[in-house]
Amino acid sequence: MILIKMGGSIITNKDRPLSPRKKTIDKIIKNLKKISEPVILVHGGGSFGHYWSVRYDMHTKPAKYDYHGIAIVKNSMIELNKIILDSMVKNKLNPYCLPPTDFMAGDKPIISKIKQIKNMAESNLTPVTFGDALWYGQKKSYILSGDRIMSILAKSLRPRLSIFLLNVDGLYSDFNTKKLIYDMKDQQASIQEISMDVTGGMKRKVEEAIKISKMGLKVFFVNGNKPHRAVDAIQKNKFEGTIFRG
Ligand code: IPE
Repeated sequence: MILIKMGGSIITNKDRPLSPRKKTIDKIIKNLKKISEPVILVHGGGSFGHYWSVRYDMHTKPAKYDYHGIAIVKNSMIELNKIILDSMVKNKLNPYCLPPTDFMAGDKPIISKIKQIKNMAESNLTPVTFGDALWYGQKKSYILSGDRIMSILAKSLRPRLSIFLLNVDGLYSDFNTKKLIYDMKDQQASIQEISMDVTGGMKRKVEEAIKISKMGLKVFFVNGNKPHRAVDAIQKNKFEGTIFRG
């Protein structure tokens, strides 16, 4: 089973609120069709949910956030999710939408539900979930990122490969020269520096990727503008991006 996250920066134009990158989404979806293994898809919020969560000052830590903010973030994620589902249906895939409330209770995963997601993927359905604004309880809510969903699903389902589709070629050891790190194993000593060097969004991805690789699982960061690279990683064991070995 393969777990794939389409990052917000690849499926939306992060500089403009509420702007999907429909051509890129279509291109990614067309490439997903080439994968012969069961796939579970996760997507981020980009200029939809992420944009509004910043506007309403909502974070991953449970707190009493603005109720209208919760509504707007949720609504915008449904809108972005629908664009992805439509692209999948148009390309003759069978997406099945699973908002994270279908497998999360507060901030705890419901393991039996997560196991069902795998069953679905092993049939001819492609489960699709996304980062979202979730109810925590005691008047509190929180932002569950797509990145955290990746490690939650990986922990229970142990995918053969977890792929993060980014808007860059992978992780750079030096952002100015764009020198790509091919294998994070060679970089263990400097993970601290790398995490410091990257911007907020990327830092979170690296942290989740390290978490997943510490479960003994393989993680791959790859450019979503070149989705054939993700297909090559899955089908041909050819990795043009950054790999984190379990
Ligand atoms: C978006 O998930 C969560 C919301 C703000 C609703 P992510 O945090 O994984 O989104 P990207 O991929 O970084 O945009």
